[in-house]
Amino acid sequence: MSAKVFHESSELHVTGKAIYVDDINSPSNTLFGYVVTSKIAHGKLCSFDLSNAQKVAGVAAILSWKDIPGHNQMGAIADDETVLVQNEILFIGQALFLIAATTEQAALQAASLIKTEVETLEPVITLSDSIQKGWKLNETVVMQRGNALNAFKTCAHVIEASAESGAQEHWYLETQAALAIPGENREIKVFSSTQHPSETQSKIAEVLSIGKNQVTVETRRLGGAFGGKETQANMVAAWAALLANSTQKPVKIRLFRDDDQRMTGKRHPFLTHYKVGFNAEGKILAYQVSFNANAGYSSDLSMAILARARTHAENAYYIPDILIESTAWRTNLPSNTAFRGFGAPQGIYAIEDAIERIAVFLKKDAAEIRHLNFYTKTQNTTPYGELVENNHLETIWEKLVKSSNYYNRKEAVDSFNKVHTYEKRGIAFTPVKFGISFNTPHLNQAGALVNIYTDGTVLVNQGGIEMGQGLYTKIQQIVAFELGLPIEKVLVNATITSTIPNTSATAASSGTDLNGMAAKNATDQIKERIAAFLNKHWKISDTKNSIQISELVFSNEKITHSKKTELTISFTEVINLLYTNRISLSAQGYYSTPNLYFNKETQQGRPFHYYVFGMAVSEVELDLLTGRHKILRTDILHDSGNSINPNIDIGQIEGAFMQGVGWCTTEEIKWDVKGNMLNHSPDTYKIPGIRDIPQQFNVNLLENAPNPNTIHQSKATGEPPFIHALSVLFALKYAIASIKNHSIYPDLDIPATNEKMVLCIQKLKD
Ligand code: MTE
Ligand code: HPA
Ligand code: MOS
Repeated sequence: MSAKVFHESSELHVTGKAIYVDDINSPSNTLFGYVVTSKIAHGKLCSFDLSNAQKVAGVAAILSWKDIPGHNQMGAIADDETVLVQNEILFIGQALFLIAATTEQAALQAASLIKTEVETLEPVITLSDSIQKGWKLNETVVMQRGNALNAFKTCAHVIEASAESGAQEHWYLETQAALAIPGENREIKVFSSTQHPSETQSKIAEVLSIGKNQVTVETRRLGGAFGGKETQANMVAAWAALLANSTQKPVKIRLFRDDDQRMTGKRHPFLTHYKVGFNAEGKILAYQVSFNANAGYSSDLSMAILARARTHAENAYYIPDILIESTAWRTNLPSNTAFRGFGAPQGIYAIEDAIERIAVFLKKDAAEIRHLNFYTKTQNTTPYGELVENNHLETIWEKLVKSSNYYNRKEAVDSFNKVHTYEKRGIAFTPVKFGISFNTPHLNQAGALVNIYTDGTVLVNQGGIEMGQGLYTKIQQIVAFELGLPIEKVLVNATITSTIPNTSATAASSGTDLNGMAAKNATDQIKERIAAFLNKHWKISDTKNSIQISELVFSNEKITHSKKTELTISFTEVINLLYTNRISLSAQGYYSTPNLYFNKETQQGRPFHYYVFGMAVSEVELDLLTGRHKILRTDILHDSGNSINPNIDIGQIEGAFMQGVGWCTTEEIKWDVKGNMLNHSPDTYKIPGIRDIPQQFNVNLLENAPNPNTIHQSKATGEPPFIHALSVLFALKYAIASIKNHSIYPDLDIPATNEKMVLCIQKLKD
């Protein structure tokens, strides 16, 4: 496939012409929708009075829970999220009332005039408080192989430690938005910035008490999502729909940046305890790990996120005896949610931290310990019983050790540190193995509709969402390739629930895997019709000689018989012949990933279609006095199978890595004891900027690694490279540990902010 295909919207993006929900030309009578939220983290809504607020000129509707025609629930998995608070208030930013007004000013004035009486209860904000109070969201889930507790007894060495990681704000550039337009007879159309139009449609139908067939949700593109719009776009859409239904006018809600940051969930903070048993060489023999996640006030996707943490607890390593436990804990915070990696980063962090400790303990190189423990051809079964097939760990290791010049550079780092007092360097080598598929097996399905028009142009509808990751481009490439057309002839339409029903979220990195296969299934059907037609057209009457679809070459807008090249016809001509012969030029494609199963009771099965592998080496320089640091160089070798679009995949790897660097270093969310988020805007919440990018950044895709049984032998790329950022964290820790000649392991968790690093360094120097 051609390598240089640009993102289908790149020109629109850079010229500001790309249309997001807020840019849609909405009808002139569109009302401004506003959400009034709770200012206390825990309490009761005893009474309220809307009368003064309702008198404000320009106010069209103010709604409370009493005005919801249907179900006052919008949890994605469990019924534990109200659309509007009915009784108990559970976090700051929880929706109490909805206002629709002709202007923003009128809405804000009305909001200030709403009177409420609330009873305040003591909030639980931190994970440790929640654990102490026993606020379990679920019973602890256990996954195990062998008997780790017994195995520790025979291990030469055992280390016990904790690993903590913090929340992370998604910081999509486009805040949550929805435009709801009422139609006749309670039908409604909603433009929503959602990763999951079908679920958004469901929630709207439930709160309005209408059929899903009366609700259409449409999404052309998102200005970033990163998991933050997998479930949490539903509420904004449901609120806009409620207001539109009540006023019978179009209503748009677009959350203000600060409100979005205060109201929506983050990456789950984790408090993890582990125990690792190993021999003198560094081979891990037993591992016990207990994950505790801060879920926030409701379930949301916490259980699935913990499931991914469990299935990634061993990362790239074969560990014979292993015991993995996970628990989600409730707090009075917004409900934490999906975020790139979906629990895997938190799960992987603990085992990687354990390896760093083993290396310090044995006075060995941490990369060597990693290498020693990799899954191999024989030690290849995961703790949940899935085989690690087509394992590229050793190949990537060998190539990256060489291309990054790891060993020599590590020596150079050590030499640098011997002669520098205030600047120290560090280097670290980390791997990732990441399972691809939704870990809820039934979600692994997708649909597509391919329409060919008589001018030879093609319109593709499919269930996936474009959020910047290049899904539409890859779909366009797949369909163009299958039909032998230039990509300009293929347009990918906005994703609409009325065209492709019952879709899954675009998540779990599997957007192209699933929707690309569904689109190919649709083109396959049309190609079968073309082959059948050409048998007649070319008067091939003998069935022995009849044309098989595999004998037809679709290329350069022509269809040619591979063996009898004189048999050739232009694409547009054959399309028109099909039309006049009354053969359909449209096909509905479908795909479901084969051979996936998982038994929740035994925690055994085959949850993933395949694994993605990759490794990173990062070198950093740290100023011991200020904690300021720069990434001098990062080398990443990553497996995207036969990449459908190498430029897009490299962009995904760079972006995921940098987002991971933010999680590992600068991004820290602070709450006060009452549950107020203290940093809810970009001036106080620090995502990586352009100067934080590695000075030398070498990102390469693993070559000659076709992935069997996937779309064009490609691999998903969206989330796994987030894990590569751990190389930066451990490089920083290596720099700090050099102060003590690597005899200690620095007490430093995620995020390792400048402030925390300085404190850690001071402690070591005391
Ligand atoms: N890339 C961009 N530019 N914007 C995003 O919001 N989301 C990430 C990843 N890459 C995201 C992104 C997440 S969390 C996932 S699951 C995948 O994209 C989803 O898209 P895919 O399945 O098509 O890879
Ligand atoms: N990733 C994202 N969303 C999900 C998953 C997953 O693995 N499982 C269920 N929802
Ligand atoms: Mo991605 S966290 O699966 O949306």
